[in-house]
Amino acid sequence: MSVTEAVHTRAHVDLAERARRVLPGGATHASRTYDPRIYVARSSGSRKWLIDGTELIDYTMGHGALLLGHAHPAIVAAVQEQVARGTHYGAAHPLEVDWAELIVSLVPSAEKVRFTASGTEAVMLALRVARAATGRDRIVKLQDHFHGWSDAVSPYLDGEGRTRFPVGVPEALGALTTVVRTDDPAGLESTLAGGDVAAVIMEPSGAHYGQLPLDPSFISAARAACTAAGTVLVFDEVVTGFRVAPGGMQSVLGITPEISVLGKVMAGGLPSGAVAGRADLLELLATTIAHPGTFNANPLSAAAGIATLQLVADGAPQRTAESYAVTLASEWTAALASAGVPGTIRRLSSILHIFLGDPSAQARIANAMRAEGIDILNTSAFCSSVHTIADLEQSVTAFARAIVAASTPN
Ligand SMILES: Cc1ncc(COP(=O)(O)O)c(C=O)c1O
Repeated sequence: MSVTEAVHTRAHVDLAERARRVLPGGATHASRTYDPRIYVARSSGSRKWLIDGTELIDYTMGHGALLLGHAHPAIVAAVQEQVARGTHYGAAHPLEVDWAELIVSLVPSAEKVRFTASGTEAVMLALRVARAATGRDRIVKLQDHFHGWSDAVSPYLDGEGRTRFPVGVPEALGALTTVVRTDDPAGLESTLAGGDVAAVIMEPSGAHYGQLPLDPSFISAARAACTAAGTVLVFDEVVTGFRVAPGGMQSVLGITPEISVLGKVMAGGLPSGAVAGRADLLELLATTIAHPGTFNANPLSAAAGIATLQLVADGAPQRTAESYAVTLASEWTAALASAGVPGTIRRLSSILHIFLGDPSAQARIANAMRAEGIDILNTSAFCSSVHTIADLEQSVTAFARAIVAASTPN
């Protein structure tokens, strides 16, 4: 059965109806609100299966968390073994130490690590640490950069350069969060020159894991300006950490922040986040900052995280995923050219970003890809170390059809 047929089966339609009754918008995540909704029952390797058994090639890959693919045998074994030993001890346990040691050994900024339950929480904690360390309240973020959904990092600039606040985020936060444009290094320097900014937070890949690349000279300038102003530089490596290289984007750039925020790959597809940074800053968590969190370093996430980090430590899975992405990017680029569809494919390591020239085609591409049996995350495709030649061939054919469908008004 095709995905288009599958989503119209009674079972899918019934689930969508039940979902609308109990979940706002029938959804659980801002990126999973598309219709027709798909309901996935199982996943393995590069594939996932809908409730009726229809198969898709997956490039959402756990929103980027699954560098090693779905249900990697080593991760499954680690989690199975741990679940039987208990999922929460309400006490320290050996795995949290092993996990932190692995992170310290891989991530340049990581002298010490504090675990959280998500990337969003890790961002909140990183900012708290920076504020505590500097005694300053203001933070700076970059236009378009995404750091999860907490209030402090939600303001953005509109077309006229005015600060805007998503619904539910108080405008009073404008006094604490300054949004700086990424084409304006001088603006960043002058904002920091006042000496009242606790932290600059950025995605070192550029906004949305490389959708809008950031000039490395901007990052170097930010590094220097932070040092000069006594401001804490925070790299949000929730997506790039362990994926673009074992040491993340900071190891690729050769620029080390005071604090890195981690998530996704670090826990092999289970929930977690972490703040990994300079020892004296992290030690504030042992003195002046109280940081609870029921699921911090929970044994299940720790077991999955350790199994994952051991496998990715030598960089081999990252290289495999990246070389797959290189081929896929060139095949998709060729497909655009031969179909005469305006657009480009941008790549950061194993992540591809689709840009179609026509905005309505861009808005339709994910649904068009799903109709062809390929699931992408909005307009991005996360490749894993287990995507195969068969996946590649199918993904190229599907993309060639999807770009035409997306470009054709209904
Ligand atoms: C760059 C970046 N930072 C932070 C987050 C938030 O992480 P989480 O979804 O685990 O809260 C995300 C989530 O996609 C992200 O892409």
